[in-house]
Amino acid sequence: MRRFVLSLVAVAAINAAPLGLPHLHIPKSNPQTKAKIELGQMLFFDPRFSGDNTISCATCHDPDKAFTDQLPVSVGIGGKKGTRNAPTVINAAYFSSQFWDGRVPTLAEQAKFPPINPVEGGLHSWKEVVDKIKADPNYVKLFTEVFGITKDEIDIDRFGLAIEAFERTIIMGDSRFDRYYFQGENDALSEQEKRGFALFLGKGRCVECHTISQNYALFTNDKFHNLGVGWKKIKDDLASILKAYEQRDKLHEEEAVLLNEKFSELGRYVVTKEIDDIGAFKTPTLRNIELTFPYMHDGSLKTLEEVIVWYNNGGRLSATDELSSFIDGGIRELDLTGEEIEDLVAFLKTLTSESLKKDKK
Ligand code: HEC
Ligand code: HEC
Repeated sequence: MRRFVLSLVAVAAINAAPLGLPHLHIPKSNPQTKAKIELGQMLFFDPRFSGDNTISCATCHDPDKAFTDQLPVSVGIGGKKGTRNAPTVINAAYFSSQFWDGRVPTLAEQAKFPPINPVEGGLHSWKEVVDKIKADPNYVKLFTEVFGITKDEIDIDRFGLAIEAFERTIIMGDSRFDRYYFQGENDALSEQEKRGFALFLGKGRCVECHTISQNYALFTNDKFHNLGVGWKKIKDDLASILKAYEQRDKLHEEEAVLLNEKFSELGRYVVTKEIDDIGAFKTPTLRNIELTFPYMHDGSLKTLEEVIVWYNNGGRLSATDELSSFIDGGIRELDLTGEEIEDLVAFLKTLTSESLKKDKK
């Protein structure tokens, strides 16, 4: 695992985007330096930023599992369960917002929350996080050197900035799809995978949200849509859930959606307060999707076949299930045959990055 992560740092040093990905914009407010990346990497793997010294970022974003935990919903301190599926950190540096509902704008802001989330790190305050940093002479040395500050100036924001620098090195393209599409290697895909790609662009209309651009493909439009996932959990008492959400515990305002399963299902609504955004979630990337099972914001779909069946039935597993009242206009029954479903699944499996394949062995 360690060797793998160091090789990622080497990739970032070359400063060229991998095949199929755009140039990564680095804002002047948090420039990349080798020392900062290494500090961020140490923080990412350090279990001390949790109440019982057992949970690190890598517990739920494990490099050996394509930076996910491969669980339906994440398990944090003391075996406590959250409400949502852990998305991969791979390529998160490209997204214009973080979390399934996009409630924080940057990786640096995002990184501040897991240590103090009651079902993740379980610490009580950012002061506890900062105290742990200041208690370790090695961290004090690194923070003061990397940011050019005194020990007193070490704070939670710089904890986030260092982790952000590390996460910007976790970018992966270079899949068989990329060689086929961006390098014209006709043999990189089988006939079945090519049929699946045609369905992705055409009859399946997947590309409308899982975007492919001219010179790169992030497979997300960075927008929020309701696919009907989780609708059953809130449909019968929506009014009372909305009321309870308004009266939620302000102490854990940011994390309320990870502590209460019904609040979680409000989706993008918690950010915009628009009724139409109830149950809408961020379009996730599809890169490395074969390795980041189970699927959807609540991890409720186990396989890629199930995901395609969900789309094929217009946003439900079975054609007799009730559709969400807020279903996105782009989700309609697709009329795919059994063979076409298999072709689409085969195509999705061509999106795995070469670097992850080598690492699996
Ligand atoms: C207990 C498991 C757990 C731990 C520990 C954890 N995460 Fe996460 N992570 C999650 C879950 C679950 C989500 C989705 C939550 C949501 O969308 O509301 C998430 C979301 C993210 C995202 C957003 C990705 C996207 O596509 O929107 C990033 C980035 C991330 N985590 C990085 C980190 C970092 C950095 C740490 C350590 C400081 C960390 N995580 C610790 C489970 C965890
Ligand atoms: C209207 C926009 C839209 C269209 C069209 C669309 N998707 Fe999605 N896709 C999303 C959103 C949003 C999610 C997350 C929904 C959730 O978790 O509630 C998602 C989730 C997924 C996931 C699970 C990803 C993960 O990490 O859990 C897969 C796989 C997927 N889509 C594949 C496809 C395929 C294949 C098609 C075409 C048949 C398609 N999508 C069409 C927006 C769309």
